[in-house]
Amino acid sequence: MADPAQIDWPEATGAWLARGGGTRLRSMVYSAEVIQERVRAMAEEITAHYEPDDDLLVLGLLKGSFIFMADLVRWIERPIHVDFLVASSYGAEVRSSGAVKLLYDPAGPIEGRHILLVEDIIDSGTTIERLADSLRTRRPASLEICALLHKHIAIDLSIEPRWVGFDAPSDFLVGYGLDHAEDYRHLPFVASIHG
Ligand code: IMP
Ligand code: MG
Repeated sequence: MADPAQIDWPEATGAWLARGGGTRLRSMVYSAEVIQERVRAMAEEITAHYEPDDDLLVLGLLKGSFIFMADLVRWIERPIHVDFLVASSYGAEVRSSGAVKLLYDPAGPIEGRHILLVEDIIDSGTTIERLADSLRTRRPASLEICALLHKHIAIDLSIEPRWVGFDAPSDFLVGYGLDHAEDYRHLPFVASIHG
């Protein structure tokens, strides 16, 4: 159970702390309200970016993007299809292993469609780099990336995300889909953790 003395935001109540898995939360980084406002603005930009008859497939990278996807697509005011990709995760570690394995990818066609890949967070950039490579071989009409958080520590990315929610600190972050050893995904805000 987290130590309440380590929490420094006013909304921290026993109810929030009870959702955690034992690792101490350090501080609130993005509140639920701030996230909702930003996600809505990104969805408006995405809506405006595509031509009316573009065939747009929004692909969420599981598991981390599940809440972000659910909120984002509800503000996109044009026809879309929704699917997911499953890549191997970091397990209980707080560092990137460098290896990305695809466990599920969409059965439907990618060729000729506009693909928007939705990521929770870009850290080393390895995940989007590998996924973009694999998706490009399937010849989409376009491939863009929308990431909620970008740590800006990745260098030489072959593809930069067109939409970024927040330029994140290098701390290890949890909540709003992001986990630490599978804990904390269901927090409605993003917090930093002692890594
Ligand atoms: P990358 O491949 O190093 O860019 O890492 C991307 C993936 O690592 C994300 O999709 C997350 O699952 C995970 N990740 C990276 N940084 C964090 C973090 O601060 N908190 C939680 N998960 C993270
Ligand atoms: Mg993860």
